[in-house]
Formats: sequence, structure tokens, C-alpha cells
Amino acid sequence: MALIPEDVSVATLTGGSRVVSLESGSTKSFTSEKDMIEILLHECLRAKEFAYCPYSKFRVGAALMTKEGNVFVGCNVENACFNLGVCAERTAIQKAVSEGHMNFRAIAIASDLEDQFISPCGACRQVMREFGTEWDVFLSRPDGSYLKMTVDELLPVSFGPEDLSKKKVFSIHNGY
Ligand code: THU
Repeated sequence: MALIPEDVSVATLTGGSRVVSLESGSTKSFTSEKDMIEILLHECLRAKEFAYCPYSKFRVGAALMTKEGNVFVGCNVENACFNLGVCAERTAIQKAVSEGHMNFRAIAIASDLEDQFISPCGACRQVMREFGTEWDVFLSRPDGSYLKMTVDELLPVSFGPEDLSKKKVFSIHNGY
């Protein structure tokens, strides 16, 4: 039984399985929240199929939508040098940023955990936070149910790019 924090929405898609095929990064504007959720939940499940996880055998998929409606997907990509493995969320975010997109509307995450909403690791939360605190993260289960949380809820009192330019008691001048 998953522990569901208060104040987060829990919902299950009832619209059946509309099959939507999107190439990574393709542009289509989805104005409704319902459409966006349906697409992202479907796409993160699809992305999970490509998970490269011979060591953990723990498949994860992520699907990210920009405010403009572009969708980028990612899976976890592990490595024989274990600490070089990358999570699905960061794969998707790095694909988006490297193609010039960083205004994010939402990301959905999928795993094979039957009874639990897949929760992003701390490193991924911090990478999400780099691109704002008020965008949505959908933590899903294989049956299509999900928790909706914001980046700020997942990483409260966070450190971000704005903090670097705040007033300091000491400044290092590098001579330039
Ligand atoms: N993993 C993700 O890709 N995203 C998460 O949210 C949690 C964990 C991956 C990392 C590693 O490849 C495997 O799952 C087991 O930790």
C-alpha cells in the first residue's frame, strides 16, 4: 500500500488506451491538461521499454512535455561502471535541453513497481528544479494511476540558479 501524501491529486485514467505515437521532440500543442496527462503517461510507459538496466533490472521511463507541447522521452541507461548510470528523468531532460527546450510543463515517470508510484531520486529532483519549481511531476503506476506533484513539493526549500547571484558576505574576484 503506497503512502500518499496529503494535498496531491491521485487519479486514474478512464479514457481507455488511446494510442498516440510521437517521435521524440515532436511538436504538437495539447491545450488540455487531460490530453497532456494521457500522452505523457502513455509515452513514459513506451520509453520504459527501452530501459537499459542489465545491473539493477529496474526499468524506468520518463516523458517530458514543454510548454510549447514538445515531448521528449527517456529511459534509464546503466553502465558496467555502475556510478555512471543515468536515470530516465535526466535522460529526457538532457535530450530536451540539448535540443534547445527548457520551458517544462510536466514530466511523467513509469516503472514496473506494481503497488507504488515511482518516485524520482534526489539527483533527478535537483535537475528538474534547475528549470523551475512550479511545474508538474506525475508519479505513475503500471495500471495508469498517478500522483501529481510539483517540483517544489518534491524538493522543498531548494537551491537553484537564482541563489548564485544573491548577496554574499564574501566574494571571490578572479581578476577578470
Ligand atoms: N531510476 C530512474 O531512472 N529513475 C528513478 O526515478 C529512480 C531510479 C533508475 C536508476 C537505476 O538505473 C535504476 O533505476 C535502479 O535504481
